[in-house]
Parts: sequence; C-alpha cells; structure tokens
Amino acid sequence: MTSLSAVSIGALAAPAAAFAPPSRETPVRIRGLSYTVGAQGRRARATPILADVDLEIAPRQFVALVGPSGCGKSTLLNFLAGLLPPQAGSFSLGEQEQGRPRSVGYMFQQHGLLPWRTVQKNVELGLEMAGLPTAERADRAHAMLADMGLQGFEHHYPKEISGGMCQRVALARTLATQPDLLLMDEPFGALDAQTRALIHEMFSAYWETHRKTVLFVTHDLAEAVFLADRVLVMSARPGRIAADHAIDLPRPRRLEALRVDPHFHARVETLWQDIKTQSAVAMRGHA
Ligand SMILES: Nc1ncnc2c1ncn2[C@@H]1O[C@H](COP(=O)(O)OP(=O)(O)OP(=O)(O)O)[C@@H](O)[C@H]1O
Ligand SMILES: [Mg+2]
Repeated sequence: MTSLSAVSIGALAAPAAAFAPPSRETPVRIRGLSYTVGAQGRRARATPILADVDLEIAPRQFVALVGPSGCGKSTLLNFLAGLLPPQAGSFSLGEQEQGRPRSVGYMFQQHGLLPWRTVQKNVELGLEMAGLPTAERADRAHAMLADMGLQGFEHHYPKEISGGMCQRVALARTLATQPDLLLMDEPFGALDAQTRALIHEMFSAYWETHRKTVLFVTHDLAEAVFLADRVLVMSARPGRIAADHAIDLPRPRRLEALRVDPHFHARVETLWQDIKTQSAVAMRGHA
C-alpha cells in the first residue's frame, strides 16, 4: 500500500512532509496494479483500465510515460498521488525512513492558479499551508519565480500575465514545496511551441541541479526524450507497461544541440513506432 500522506496538488501541500531533507529518497514501486470500473450494478459491464502494471522508478530518475489516449496514464498517476485506492496489486512510495512519509507534488495541464492571489502569493500557497514563516516563504517563492524567469511579475494577478507565464507560475508553485516525487500530467501540453521550448530548457536546468524523482506524462515524444532518463510506453487500454526505453543522451541537454542530433531523432522514432502500434490497437478497441 502507499505510504503517501503528503501530496501537493498544484499548491495544496499537506504540511508535515513537504519539507523533507533533500537527502531522502523516493523510489516508486508498483506491483501487479489493476483497476476496473463500472462493475458495481448487476447489469453494469466492467471496464478494465489498468491491468497488472509493474513499475519501478529509481531515486532521482526522470521517467516519462507515453501511451495512447485513454490508456490509463492519468489513472496511474492518481494512484500514486493517493487519490484512488488500489483494487488489486500494491504500490509504495519509498521506504519509511524514520517513520516519515514522503512528499509528492502533482501538476496538471491546467495551471489552477487562484485568480484573487498575486503570482507571488500563488507560489506561496503550499508554503503557507506547510506553516513556513512569512519571510522564508517569500524568499523561497521569489527564488523560484526567478528560476522560472518571472522576476518583476510577483505582484501581478494571473489575469495580467500570459497562459505560458501562468504555467511557469504553476511550475514554480509545485517546485517551491520541494517535493521528493513529482507527478506531472501533461503539464506543458497546452503551451505554444516557443513557450514550451523555453519551459523545457528551464525545467531541464532545474532538474539537472535538483534531481528529483519525476513521473512525467506526455503525448509529445520529443519532449519525453529531451527531458527523461527513461521513457515508458503504455499499452492500449487496459494499460500496462509495454516498453521501457533508456534515454542515454548526455546531460546537460540543450534543445539547439539535440534538434540536430541524429541520436535524439532515432530515439523519438523508436518511440513513435511503439506508439503507432499501441494507438492502432486503441482505435480498433481491442488487441
Ligand atoms: N471513474 C471512471 N469511470 C469510468 N471510466 C473511467 C473512470 N476513470 C477513468 N476512466 C476511463 O479510464 C480510461 C483511462 O483514463 P485516463 O484518463 O487515465 O487515460 P489517459 O491515458 O490519461 O488518457 P489521455 O491521454 O487522453 O489523458 C479512459 O477510457 C477513461 O474513460
Ligand atoms: Mg490523461
């Protein structure tokens, strides 16, 4: 069973474990996780969503998860966030070091900023809930906003900044609580190509410095290869891990260099072949 008790959904960080010392590790282990919906009524037909998912993520590994629409990627993240109880199988988020649970940050495609709070106050929300002193949370929010290239916008409201900036604020808000494990569900999916490239560079630089454990869902295969150490391909529904590709491109990674790197393109192409197969199955509705 999950040991999770501190999930930060966007900014909604539960207090105690949000400030775990950086040395603490968060491997993810899932064994035989299955999930079926719609079987409750007598006439209801059960729909298997996840079937026998096995997955292990090493500490500080950046793992991307790709797969056809509807295969169960978000459902899997919801399990890890503790939002769904497992029906069959088990999962754990790290060892119970000193009896304390780990902290988890969860970021979605929608930024979910609170319109009545300024940029700075949005980033501080999780820190406030964790009970950090005023000066410390202001310092931390300020630093995160600077990392995201948003200095000078601290006192703006969400409606006064662009969609791409809102998403950078949401990223700053998620990272400000320093979660051990980051669950990211198409966090940059709604951004235009230029903003996405900018945020990839920023996030990659952040990750190369802080090395958090990340499970990152995306439909963008180039994004997966650029950011991740490993890319998992999920099968058509019922989802299971169909392929596991190591991305051994050296770091630090820079977009300009990778755009002309044949190794980068070869990895994207390999993933595309996997996805094509799984998407065809998904569209036919059966294997
Ligand atoms: N509570 C529920 N009741 C019925 N069906 C559900 C429920 N939750 C999820 N599903 C179904 O489970 C499947 C997986 O959904 P999920 O959102 O995890 O897919 P996904 O891989 O994240 O898709 P996408 O790439 O489009 O975001 C879908 O077919 C969805 O309709
Ligand atoms: Mg989804």
